[in-house]
Formats: sequence, C-alpha cells, structure tokens
Amino acid sequence: MNKVKVSLFVGLVLLTALAITGCQPTATPPQVERVVETVVVTVVVEPTQLPPPAPTPPPDHSDIMLAWEQSPHGNTYDLGKGPNTYCSRCHSPQNWDPEATTDRPPNCVTCKFDFDPELRNASTMEFVAEEDWVGINCETCHRVQDGVVQEGIAWLSPLTHEYIDVATPNELCTKCHLTSQGVSASGGRGVTHEIYLGGSAHKNWAGVLSNEKKPDYCTDCHDPHSQQPKDCVSCHEINETEHAMGNYAKMADKVSCMGCHEADGMAVGPHPDPAKGGIWVPIVTEVGRTGEVTSTAVISHSINWLVSCDRCHFDGNNYELPVLTAEGKPVEVEAGG
Ligand code: HEC
Ligand code: HEC
Ligand code: HEC
Ligand code: HEC
Ligand code: HEC
Ligand code: HEC
Ligand code: HEC
Repeated sequence: MNKVKVSLFVGLVLLTALAITGCQPTATPPQVERVVETVVVTVVVEPTQLPPPAPTPPPDHSDIMLAWEQSPHGNTYDLGKGPNTYCSRCHSPQNWDPEATTDRPPNCVTCKFDFDPELRNASTMEFVAEEDWVGINCETCHRVQDGVVQEGIAWLSPLTHEYIDVATPNELCTKCHLTSQGVSASGGRGVTHEIYLGGSAHKNWAGVLSNEKKPDYCTDCHDPHSQQPKDCVSCHEINETEHAMGNYAKMADKVSCMGCHEADGMAVGPHPDPAKGGIWVPIVTEVGRTGEVTSTAVISHSINWLVSCDRCHFDGNNYELPVLTAEGKPVEVEAGG
C-alpha cells in the first residue's frame, strides 16, 4: 500500500482593514473585514513504490528500417561490386580509403566477375570482408545520437568522418549518383553508372499544366529509404484517345513515356532484354575495343515536353513504321523506299 503523508496547514489570517480617514472627521469610518484562508497540501510519495517516470520513447522507425533493409542501399555487399577500400567510396563510404588507387590490369580492382573462379586481388587496395562492410546506412544520411536518428539530412563525410550539412536531398543523392562515365579520376571506363540527369522538362515552359508542385528533388519521386520511384502516371493521367495527337492508344503497349519524352536526343528502340516485350526505350549503343556492339537500355531523367514523331517514324526506319513528319503528318514515300 502506498504510504501517503498528508500534512495540512491551515492558516487563517484575519485582516482588519483600518478605516480610511476621510476628509470629514465627524463621519463614522466603515468597518471592512477580509478573511483569507491559505491551505498548503504536501503529498509525499514513496518513490520506490512507483514505476520511474517514462522517458519519451524513441520514434518508431520500423517501416523505414524495413524499407531500407529490402532496398538496394540496404544490400550493397557484393563481390561483383568491388568489396574493397577503393570502390567503397560510394558503395560503403565508411570503408573507403582515400589513398587506395587502381592496380595494373588484369587485377585493376579487387572484385570478382561472374566468370572468374577466384577473386581478383589488387595490391593497391584492401579487400573488405562482409562483416566489416558498413554499407549505406542511417548514419550515412542522418546524424544519429544514442542510436536514434535525428531530424534532417546530413552527409557523413568519408574523408573527415564528420557530418556536412546538405541543403537539399539532391545534394545528398548526388554525392554518389553522378552522371559518371567511369569511376577513376582519369575518367577510365571501369564501370559505367548509367544515369542521365540532364535538364528536366519539369519546368512547365509550355505552361500547359497547373501550378501544382513539379518534382524538383530526387525524393519527390524516389522514396529515400526504399529508393522506389513514382512512375510517370502516378502524377500524370493520360487520356489515351487524345494523347499524341490521338494516336497514343496505337502505341501504348509498345512505347514507354520516355521513348517519346526523352530530352537528350538519345537513340530509342525496342528494349534489348526480350523479357521486356519489345517496349521502346532510350538506348545507348557502344562499340567495344574489340568491335563488339552492345545495346543497353538507359533510364533517362531528362524529360521533354515537345515530342517529334519522326524520331521513330522516319524514312527508312527498320521497323516498318509509317513515315511521319515531326508533327505527325503522313509523308508519302516512294514504294520500296
Ligand atoms: C562515384 C560513386 C561510385 C563509385 C566510386 C563506385 N560506384 Fe558502383 N555504383 C554507384 C552507384 C550510385 C550505383 C547504382 C546506381 C547506378 O547504377 O547508377 C552503382 C552500381 C554499381 C554496380 C551495378 C551496376 C549495374 O548496372 O547493375 C556495379 C557492378 C558497381 N557499381 C561496381 C563498382 C565497382 C567495381 C567500383 C570500383 C571500381 C565502383 N562501383 C565504384 C556509385 C559508385
Ligand atoms: C541515402 C540517404 C538516406 C539513408 C541511407 C537513410 N535516409 Fe532517412 N531520409 C533521407 C532523406 C533524403 C530524407 C528526407 C526526405 C524528404 O525531405 O523528402 C529522409 C527522411 C527520414 C526521416 C524523416 C521523414 C520520414 O520519412 O519519417 C526519418 C525518420 C528517417 N529518414 C529515418 C531513417 C532511418 C531510420 C534510416 C536507416 C534505416 C535512414 N533514414 C536512412 C535519406 C536517407
Ligand atoms: C553513399 C552513396 C549513395 C548515396 C548518398 C545515395 N545512393 Fe543511391 N545507390 C548507391 C549505390 C552504391 C547503389 C547501388 C547499390 C547496389 O546495387 O549494390 C544505389 C542504388 C540506388 C537506386 C537503385 C538503382 C538501381 O539500379 O536499381 C536508386 C533508385 C537510388 N540509389 C536512389 C538514391 C536516392 C534518391 C538518393 C538520395 C536520397 C541516393 N540514392 C543516395 C549509392 C548512394
Ligand atoms: C511527382 C509527380 C510527377 C512525376 C512522377 C512526373 N511528373 Fe511530369 N510533371 C509533374 C508536374 C507537377 C508538372 C507540371 C510542372 C509545373 O507545373 O511546373 C509536370 C510536367 C510534365 C511535362 C510537361 C512539361 C512542360 O513543360 O509543360 C511533361 C512532358 C512531363 N511532366 C512528363 C513526365 C514523364 C514522362 C514522367 C515520367 C518519367 C513524369 N512527368 C513524372 C509532376 C510529375
Ligand atoms: C520525375 C521523377 C523522378 C525524379 C525527380 C528522379 N527520378 Fe530517378 N527514377 C525515376 C523512375 C521512374 C525510375 C525508374 C525507371 C524505370 O525503372 O524504368 C528512376 C530510376 C532511377 C535510378 C535507377 C537507374 C538505373 O539505371 O537502374 C537511379 C539510380 C535514380 N533514379 C536516381 C535518381 C536521383 C539521384 C535523382 C535526383 C538527382 C532522381 N533519380 C530523380 C524517377 C525519378
Ligand atoms: C507516342 C509518343 C508519346 C508517348 C508514348 C507519350 N507521350 Fe506524352 N506527349 C506526346 C505529345 C506529342 C505531346 C504534346 C506535346 C507536343 O506536341 O510535342 C505530349 C504531351 C505530354 C504532356 C504535357 C501535357 C499534355 O497533355 O499536353 C505530358 C504531361 C505527357 N505528355 C506525359 C506523358 C506520359 C506520362 C506518358 C506515358 C504514360 C506519355 N506522355 C507518353 C507524345 C507522347
Ligand atoms: C519512340 C518511338 C516512337 C515515337 C516518338 C512515335 N511513335 Fe508512333 N509508333 C511507334 C511504334 C513502335 C509503333 C508500332 C506499335 C505497335 O506495333 O504496336 C508506332 C505506331 C504508330 C501508329 C500506328 C501505325 C500503324 O501502322 O498502325 C501511328 C498512327 C503512330 N505511331 C503515330 C505516331 C505519332 C502521331 C507520333 C508523334 C506524336 C508518334 N507515332 C511517335 C513508335 C513511335
């Protein structure tokens, strides 16, 4: 049983106000009486009998943790992605050694291609075992105090191991997501990280859309923790019977939004991976040192409003598409042309 001591002090103060002496000395001064009661209650509670005051519980980030664990950022350890102190600059910044450089071929970087029976070991960098690999975790992008992620974003610099403020999510994402054509300082082509982040059509220069907020930041489309993007139609409803001068429905199964709206003038064509069902996307075709030609589908982030039909419907195209002008007008072509 709780032992509660209650002390009760009752103070009774009786005040008698003195009569105010008026300017008429002959009148009887009125008697004013005020009674003020002061009650002081002291409650003493034995501290051991009650649970300690509950601390504010740390915020629940379990959905964020789960999304991150299942995402590419949550799983960066891979023998094929350079588990070493060189490539880790972006794949696990806290394992990066700024002094590490590439070795001479064939062991340029410590890495294992699918066809390699053994890991290639470069002498100019250290191998990092899975248990020592830090990866891209909460600390990479947020200040963390006593295990609790603090509000706001920041970049844990792998050079100084101190946090650097970042003004926008883009500044954070582009610490690693560069439009890089290779990863070495000399511009070598060891790895191509195909991401094109050129100009964006999301400027509404044509003024056709309302003053809704356009996507400015990576995180307007990508969930920062699962990295999953919103697709075009999650923001743009397409009227299939009117879009593309009323021809959209004829192409909807075969042409992706970016097949028509890609802004950097890349080649477009059917996806090289047959599993994608021949959907037209931006493509980069490269000729290797030994002359072999490889076509890779690329995800472009450069979106254009203006679409030229003759990007695909040009004279002499390999796909038997009817020939059209840029504006979509039919062009008479000589038979056999
Ligand atoms: C400048 C930062 C950076 C450096 C340094 C870096 N990577 Fe990457 N890497 C990335 C990013 C970002 C991605 C994922 C997104 C993408 O493909 O653009 C990636 C993805 C990859 C992939 C998967 C590519 C694919 O198409 O699926 C491989 C393999 C890879 N990196 C290997 C390496 C190797 C090997 C090294 C060291 C020689 C290295 N990376 C160094 C940033 C980097
Ligand atoms: C690659 C960088 C990155 C990593 C890694 C990362 N975050 Fe975030 N996080 C962000 C960005 C960017 C935002 C802000 C998004 C915005 O402003 O739209 C954010 C927002 C948040 C927020 C506040 C908004 C919300 O969604 O509730 C919390 C909480 C959070 N992150 C927790 C975590 C936790 C926990 C981890 C580790 C599992 C983590 N983050 C890992 C980039 C990251
Ligand atoms: C520390 C460097 C780093 C930062 C910061 C970073 N990323 Fe990444 N990101 C990577 C690497 C490395 C991969 C590839 C992981 C893998 O495949 O092993 C990746 C993968 C991705 C992917 C999936 C790529 C694919 O091929 O499927 C997306 C999307 C992505 N990141 C978006 C973002 C966004 C948005 C931000 C900012 C909120 C961000 N990243 C911040 C390094 C980074
Ligand atoms: C997060 C929502 C969102 C996503 C995702 C999105 N858009 Fe937009 N887009 C907008 C908004 C909002 C505008 C209007 C811009 C403004 O008002 O400044 C716009 C404008 C446009 C325009 C017209 C630009 C102009 O100058 O008038 C085109 C074309 C476009 N988007 C295509 C796309 C394509 C293709 C995709 C997919 C790769 C896409 N959008 C993804 C929100 C989005
Ligand atoms: C308008 C919406 C939008 C914005 C803004 C956006 N992305 Fe994306 N991003 C996408 C979509 C959609 C995809 C997936 C396309 C697909 O799978 O066909 C994607 C794919 C990616 C990939 C995977 C690329 C690959 O080759 O597999 C990376 C990495 C990425 N985005 C990084 C970023 C970064 C970094 C930023 C900010 C600088 C950014 N994105 C801004 C919509 C967006
Ligand atoms: C066959 C080519 C083609 C495809 C595929 C296509 N569009 Fe368009 N889109 C156009 C044309 C043409 C215009 C009008 C601009 C012009 O005249 O060049 C347009 C205009 C737009 C606009 C500006 C507003 C409007 O309606 O005029 C948005 C937003 C847009 N497209 C989004 C998309 C999205 C999202 C997809 C994928 C679901 C898509 N488009 C697929 C050809 C295409
Ligand atoms: C990215 C490439 C691309 C662009 C740009 C493009 N088309 Fe197409 N178009 C195709 C493909 C591929 C087909 C065949 C679709 C199929 O077989 O299902 C097609 C089919 C058509 C057809 C049906 C042809 C037939 O023989 O039945 C018409 C009409 C058409 N497009 C009109 C247009 C117009 C108008 C534009 C400009 C607004 C345009 N296209 C822009 C790729 C494109």
